[in-house]
Amino acid sequence: MSRLHVTTSVNGVAHEVLCDPGQTLLELLRDELGLIGTKEGCGTGDCGACTVTLDDRLVCSCLVLAPEAEGRRIGTIEGVAGPEGLHVVQRKFLELAALQCGVCTPGLIVAAKSLLERIPDPDESTIRYWLAGNLCRCTGYDKVVRAVQAAALEMNPSEDRVFCQASTRSQEPRQ
Ligand code: FES
Ligand code: FES
Repeated sequence: MSRLHVTTSVNGVAHEVLCDPGQTLLELLRDELGLIGTKEGCGTGDCGACTVTLDDRLVCSCLVLAPEAEGRRIGTIEGVAGPEGLHVVQRKFLELAALQCGVCTPGLIVAAKSLLERIPDPDESTIRYWLAGNLCRCTGYDKVVRAVQAAALEMNPSEDRVFCQASTRSQEPRQ
């Protein structure tokens, strides 16, 4: 089978790779680029462990074909921390022990960061709804929600916080 040449940007770094037409974006990231932070849970779009951003939209990378990355911008867990250290969402997950085995954690953090970029002051129901596509089999969700709330507070410490019920993933569907 002939391989396809794909030019894409991952975490701001340009890549040119050869991939099989049926290869998934998840396989491209892990097997071709060595970015193994993105996890495979189910492989069927049900668990969210493989969540990445594709042109700033959340997707399950196990459901996206690698050739679809052509000319697109991919964001993975490896791109969440900056030169100054861990992103506040990552720090809060650690500080509040919002993880156990960690399989779900990269996807949850990518999704939570995406939420806070869109909605700086999400209320609890908005957080739970936004993260409904990310399943965790061991930690439970309360600590995850607390971590996202703590990150929101640190990122936006206004005393006049306005909590909104706004956009949900029904307006931002995964592909
Ligand atoms: S591995 Fe992609 S949604 Fe579960
Ligand atoms: S920490 Fe184990 S699946 Fe979430």
